[in-house]
This record gives sequence, structure tokens and C-alpha cells, in this order.
Amino acid sequence: MPALTIEHVGGIAIVTIDLPGEPVNKVTAALRAEFAAVFQQIAGDATVRGVVLATGKADTWLAGADIDEFLTLQSAADARALSRSGQALLARLESLTVPVVAAIHGACLGGGLETALACHYRIASDHPKTVLALPEVQLGIIPGAGGTQRLPRLIGLQRALDLILTSRNVRGKRALQMGLVDELVHPAILRSVAIERANSLAAGARERRSPKGRGAAALLLEDNPIGRSVVFRKARQGVMEKTSGHYPAPLAAIEAVQTGYDRGAEAGYREESHRFGELAVSDVARELTFLFFATTALKKDPGAPSPAPDPVTVETLGVVGAGFMGAGIASIAVQQGTAVRLKDTDTRRVAHGLAAISDVLRERLKKKQLTRLQFDDALILAGGTTDYSGFGKAELVIEAVFEDLSLKHRIIREVEPLLHEGAVLASNTSTLPIGRIAEVAQRPNRVLGMHFFSPVHKMPLLEVIVTPATDADAIVTAVAYGKTLGKTVIVVNDAPGFYTTRTLSAYMNEAGRLLDEGASIEAIDRALLAFGFPVGPITLLDEVGIDVGGKVGETLFGAFGARMSPSESLRRVVESGRTGRKGRLGFYRYDAEGTKGDVDPSVYELVPHGAQRREIEGDEITQRCVLAMVNEAARCLEEGVLRSPRDGDVGAVFGIGFPPFRGGPFRYVDAVGVEQVVDELEQLNGRFPGRFEPADLLVDHARGRARFYPPRGKGP
Ligand code: 3HC
Repeated sequence: MPALTIEHVGGIAIVTIDLPGEPVNKVTAALRAEFAAVFQQIAGDATVRGVVLATGKADTWLAGADIDEFLTLQSAADARALSRSGQALLARLESLTVPVVAAIHGACLGGGLETALACHYRIASDHPKTVLALPEVQLGIIPGAGGTQRLPRLIGLQRALDLILTSRNVRGKRALQMGLVDELVHPAILRSVAIERANSLAAGARERRSPKGRGAAALLLEDNPIGRSVVFRKARQGVMEKTSGHYPAPLAAIEAVQTGYDRGAEAGYREESHRFGELAVSDVARELTFLFFATTALKKDPGAPSPAPDPVTVETLGVVGAGFMGAGIASIAVQQGTAVRLKDTDTRRVAHGLAAISDVLRERLKKKQLTRLQFDDALILAGGTTDYSGFGKAELVIEAVFEDLSLKHRIIREVEPLLHEGAVLASNTSTLPIGRIAEVAQRPNRVLGMHFFSPVHKMPLLEVIVTPATDADAIVTAVAYGKTLGKTVIVVNDAPGFYTTRTLSAYMNEAGRLLDEGASIEAIDRALLAFGFPVGPITLLDEVGIDVGGKVGETLFGAFGARMSPSESLRRVVESGRTGRKGRLGFYRYDAEGTKGDVDPSVYELVPHGAQRREIEGDEITQRCVLAMVNEAARCLEEGVLRSPRDGDVGAVFGIGFPPFRGGPFRYVDAVGVEQVVDELEQLNGRFPGRFEPADLLVDHARGRARFYPPRGKGP
């Protein structure tokens, strides 16, 4: 069945894209061939006065190049050729003598937006599903079908760089404001307006393009070579600050855009293809593409073995504990239309929690991510209580109180009798085993963990923790609701620290041991930043809270023994009462607003200093911290805490900051080679007995020369 159908309305050919049997429209090799044939047919048909390019799908116009196809590319030359043929196809579209109107409804991404850019006029539907973006750099590549050349010429250099470098989603109104589309209409009239515009363009009654004003300052900067060189320099600086040079795609995109300005469009297109070719087969693109497929697969994973029961829709959510986490969870829940009852011990705390919800919503309102109506609708859904009133209606209750088992037990005893039998009772613990928390429950089968990460409205991961007793319908309800809240959800089996906290602790503990041995705070943070973590482990400890880190450390030491024994240095800093950023004093100094300064010199009184200090090479710091984490991740898989390497990789990248361009701990082992990882662990274990004993799973893999993922492809 063809993907393209043509319907003639008067002299207008309406070309509808609808890839048979696929949930989205994407640019496959077959679609490219069909487009080429259709363009030829239109060029040869004198009765066609204009064209409308429309979609037959409900939610996508065109979602870009077929990412599956990238996995089959064998060389940079193959990828370059793919880009060149895409460019040629769109040049053919652009050069059609009849006007082509893009009638955009749904996702218009990557090569999809590039197709729209080659059309002569763009109309978008004013619908939340209509989003325009160039997400290529998120996949480790750059737009390869002319996007780096056409976009700046249409909307201006700075705006184009912003879209290309951030992969930002642009919705209808904003797209119209910046001139990315020419008109915005209700979906119901998209088709008729598009036909009308094609007719009037054909009659010469309308301008083919209407680039929107960019403002005098932008014009002054962009319309001369000196101004542009300032823009390019700033863009490069910004990329380096954000990525520390780990991601080559944004720099390559800037290069392609600049070449087009400096040496003309033809050179720009060639540069674009050349860079696309190199990047498409790079390791970074492979890992980022893996993460795309892994997160896409998790969207469809119900969280329980099939046949999985249907989830219950959560209309009312009870949240116990109006602190930072409780209010954070409530703030994202109300935005999804859930009524929230926020419970704490006194009205002052409840009021504080409600104010925190309102702050999150207000920030979104300010950034225009919410309309005033959406803001009001969300805010009204948040209600406070000191006596659990309204909890009887809740399908889900999340307890987000302090990490103290007896307190959590008290909450369960209080709240459970008030709930209906089918309600799910979740704990937002980051460390305590759910089985222990559920010990006092009347219905332990309804208890599970929902580990959100801080700040809840920004962090993309949710770790759902289940015990052997947890009912499948409770699991699928928690997972489905996590997805409703916009989270990527992994399901793990119960154990102290589950997956994310446990692996992170192994890593942080090793950083602590390095402090014990006399390494400097700055050297430790610098080394792990250079590896690609967003912040170093000592800074992270300040962020999480040194007191919290201390408590987690104790719990995991109790559970796993010597291998997780907290470092002396960390113990002393915890005991000193420093809490990190929230207390404005930790390993680093913070100003009144909480902005981080330098290391506080007086903290060295608590850790080895003076003659006890010694220089430890950055490579050794990285190796020890990263391998401690990787080894613990392998143990989690071996013990069945993790269901798959995929969950482990996604969990580490989205939950604890493992560098995305390395794919995750298991992808990292595959990239380095499991034999080498085991070898390095054994050597370290010789130096630090008991701490680096390689996980059996790694040893078995090394013996069998096995990998966690096949050498190419989407992975298991
Ligand atoms: N290529 C291949 N498969 C794609 C795809 C693409 N561009 N876009 C979506 N899919 C697949 C998904 O893998 C999934 O497959 P499955 O059913 O076999 O698991 C299916 O389509 C449905 O996708 P989602 O589950 O993600 O559906 P949603 O409705 O939640 O989201 C979407 C739809 C917003 C289009 C989202 O899928 C998305 O963001 N896709 C990626 C878009 C993208 O990155 N495009 C740029 C590609 S690179 C490019 O264009 C290069 C060019 O410059 C040359």
C-alpha cells in the first residue's frame, strides 16, 4: 500500500502522508521514493495549480527521518549519501513551479520540519499535538536535509541556532510569532484554508513567504559578518559550557550554519551532509539513539508480565507529607487534572506545601508553559488537610515523609484504614526496603514504592519498586500514573536502596574513600565532571543534603556490609552538622540565594589535610568511582533487582546523571569490553580488598565473551 495518496480538488493536489501499518509518519526509503515519483507527476501535470501536503495520521504530520534506518548505516559515506539524497529531494520540492502549502497537524519533527521548510507556505493547526522541532542533536546528529540552511534564512540566525541547539519544541502560537509558520488555524479548517491558500498563491494574490520581523537588535547583529561572528562565537561558548565538549553535534550544527553564511548555501548544504555523515555513525549518536528506543519501549511497558491487568485511572491522589517531595509530586499531579489531597501534621506545614505547589505552577505560567486558565484549573485541584479528609476517595496515596521506618509505619497504620480496598499505597522512599515498610500494612499486596527524584517537576525518572506480594494491578496503576505525570518509569524489585540509590551510593562512597586518602574535593568533582556527569559527586552530596546522604549510607551499610561502609571523611562532615546547599554550608560555600561558590576551606579540618593530602590522578578517581557504580549495577541485575540492562541504563541516565552519551552502565561495559572491566575491578580489588570484587555476572560475561546488548541494533 502506498503511503502517499493524491486527491484533486479543483486545480489543487492534496497529497496525504499516511504510512500504512505505522503509528507515525516517518521518512523511510520507500517514502522518499514515493515523494520523488509524486513530485515528478505534479511537475508533469499541467492541471495542477498548487499542492497541499497533509497528514492522514491523528497525531503526526511527519516525525522525521526513520531512526531505525540509521542503525543500518555502515559508514560515514553511507550517511552522507543519505543526507545528500534527502537534500536533493527537498530541493526538488522547493523548486516545483506550483506553490506547495504544508498543512501541519501533529508532530512535525526533524526531517518532517525540514520538509515543511522546503514548502512555500506553512499553516499549522492550533492544537496541543502540533509541535515543531529539530530534535536531531538529542540523537547526536544534526539536521541533514537542509534544516541548518533553510531555518536561519526563514526565522533569523539566533532563533534558528536556539531551535537547533536546544531541540526545543515549538507550539503553534510561538511558531507563528517567530515566523516558523505563516498561519495558525483551528484543526477543523486546516484543510480548507490550505486549499484556499494554495489557490491564492497560484493566482499570485499572496506572498509565498512572510518572514516575520526579527526586531532591530537582531537584524543589526545578524545582517553583517561581524555581528554574525559574535553570534557564532557566543553559541560555541554556550555549547562548550553546557556540554564540556562531550557532544560533537551542536558544534557541528553551528559549523554547518556558519558555512552557509560564509561560503554560500551550496557549501552550507555540503557541510551539513558531511557533518551529518560523520555524526550518524559516531558512538555518541549510537548511545543517544539507544536511549530514544529504550525510553520509547518503556512508554509501552505496563510494568507487569503479560497478560497485565488494566490500570485504574487515578482521579484523586492523597499525598502524605507536604515537604519538598510531597509538594513536588502534588504540583505535577494537579497539572494532569488529578485532584490532590495534601496532608501534614499542622496547617502551617500544609500551607507551606500548597505555596510550593503554587510556586511551581507560577514558574510554568511565567515561562508561558501554562496559560492562565490552565494555571487556575490546576491550582484549584490542590487541597490541604491535617486529618486525611478526602483520602477515602483516593485511588493512590503516596507517602513522602522523612526517611524513618517507624514514622513510615505510623503513617501506614493511620492511613490504611481510611482507604478503600483497591487503593494503592506508595512510599516515596529512596532507600528503605518496601517489604519492611509494608510489614505493618493490613494489605501488603497494595503497597509499593514510587521513588521520585528531586526536583520532582524537572527530573524525568520514576522508579517503581515492587515486592513479591505486590498485586499486578497495583503495579500497572502506579506505572501508568507515573507515565501520565510525564515520567519515564522503570520497575525494580525490592531491595535496600533499590537500583538508583544503591548504585549512586557505591559511587559516592568511593568518592568519600578518595577523600579519606587525601584527594582534594575539587579534584574529585573535576574528574567525574570530565567523565560527563552533570555535577561531581561531592557537589551532588551538597545538593542532595549531606545529612540525607549520611542516612542513606547507614542504611546501605547495614544491608550490604563492608563493601558499603561509609567513609570516615563523610562521617565527620555529617557529624559536623553541615547539610549542603539547603543549609548554605557544605563542602562548598553558598550565598543567601543558594548559589554555589568555592570549596569552603574550613571543611578540610574535617577531612585529611596538610601533610595527609596527596594528589590522586583524575583517571584513578574516575575509574574507581565509575567502576564502583557499574559493579553495583551489575549486582542489581544479577540479583533480579533490575529486570533488564535497558532499565539499568535508562535508570542511571535519567535518575542519577550517568552521562547520556555513554548510554548507561551496561552500555559502558559493552563499550569498554567486559573482560577489561573485570580485569580492572580485580586489580582494584587487590589494592582495596573486598571493595571491588567483580559481580559474578560480569565474571560470567567475561568468561563467555558475552555482551549485554548485540553489537548493533536497538538492544534487548
Ligand atoms: N523513526 C523511527 N521510528 C519512530 C520515529 C522516527 N523518527 N518516530 C517515532 N517512531 C516510532 C517509535 O519508535 C515507536 O515505535 P514502536 O511502536 O515500534 O515502539 C512509534 O513510532 C510510536 O512512537 P511513540 O511511542 O514515541 O509515540 P508518541 O505518540 O508518544 O510520540 C513522537 C510520537 C512525538 C513522534 C515521538 O515518537 C518522537 O519524538 N519521535 C522521534 C522524532 C525525532 O527524533 N525525529 C528526528 C529524526 S532524525 C531526522 O529527522 C534527521 C533528518 O534531519 C535527516
